[in-house]
Amino acid sequence: MSFIEINNLSKSHFNRRRKKRAPGDSSEVGFIPVLDDINLEFEEGEMVCILGPSGCGKSTLLKIIAGFDTAYDGEVIINRKKVKSASSEHIFVFQQNGLLPWMTVWENLELGLRNIQDVEVKNDRIREYIDLVELNGFEDHLPCYLSGGMQRRAELARALAVKPDILYLDEPFTGLDYLTHLKVREEVVNIHEYIGKTMIMITHFIDDALIMADRIIIFSERPASVIMTRKLDFPRPRNINKNQGLGDLRDEIFLMLGVSYVA
Ligand SMILES: Nc1ncnc2c1ncn2[C@@H]1O[C@H](COP(=O)(O)OP(=O)(O)O)[C@@H](O)[C@H]1O
Ligand SMILES: [Mg+2]
Repeated sequence: MSFIEINNLSKSHFNRRRKKRAPGDSSEVGFIPVLDDINLEFEEGEMVCILGPSGCGKSTLLKIIAGFDTAYDGEVIINRKKVKSASSEHIFVFQQNGLLPWMTVWENLELGLRNIQDVEVKNDRIREYIDLVELNGFEDHLPCYLSGGMQRRAELARALAVKPDILYLDEPFTGLDYLTHLKVREEVVNIHEYIGKTMIMITHFIDDALIMADRIIIFSERPASVIMTRKLDFPRPRNINKNQGLGDLRDEIFLMLGVSYVA
């Protein structure tokens, strides 16, 4: 049995319309199918990237696996237990900024560790993870005094300090400038290598998936179904421009997502 199992998962969202329907308006009302009979398995320690067209249902799937949404057909099983609610062992890093703006970096990490009674153990843990994301010297800064990349690293540290079994990342590089995006990405790859925890990441950057993933899963247009799943056995660090196999896979994925020519 795999670490995470998703069996026959289907989900519809109810589309509430605020405005009166205009004549000729063909947009959907009522239940909109978003996920269509998804069957997936994830191994412990695996880094899996999920790609798919915008609005196909990627975030919906992640929220269901993480236990935030329980209104669906099918089942999600993690470590032999059926998922019924969100858990502190499975942490979510959203695409929006998740740090509390009135708390320092240190306090933000401390908040996630409020269940640890022993102050020394707690402080050591905070120091360890601030170290891991190289934010030493910025512990007492409020998030607004950090760059976008540093904020994202602080968020990662906060998520990882809890020592979750699984880390869910929903487009974690959104809003970062290009170079910062590449740097934070590299850091996530290193962190994954270091802590070896299961990571499921949604991204719409195909290159991110090629550089980071042990396995790539591609979804169709909504309602999402799995149209490709591919294991990537390329050694790291990966360079798409220097590895023919990665380059070919990149072309294949672009084509699959409806883009036939990529510079
Ligand atoms: N809470 C919700 N209520 C109604 N419709 C929703 C809700 N969340 C998402 N949707 C709709 O479901 C579809 C899939 O959304 P989402 O999972 O966020 O897509 P993705 O993350 O792949 O871009 C979209 O059409 C979106 O408008
Ligand atoms: Mg999304």
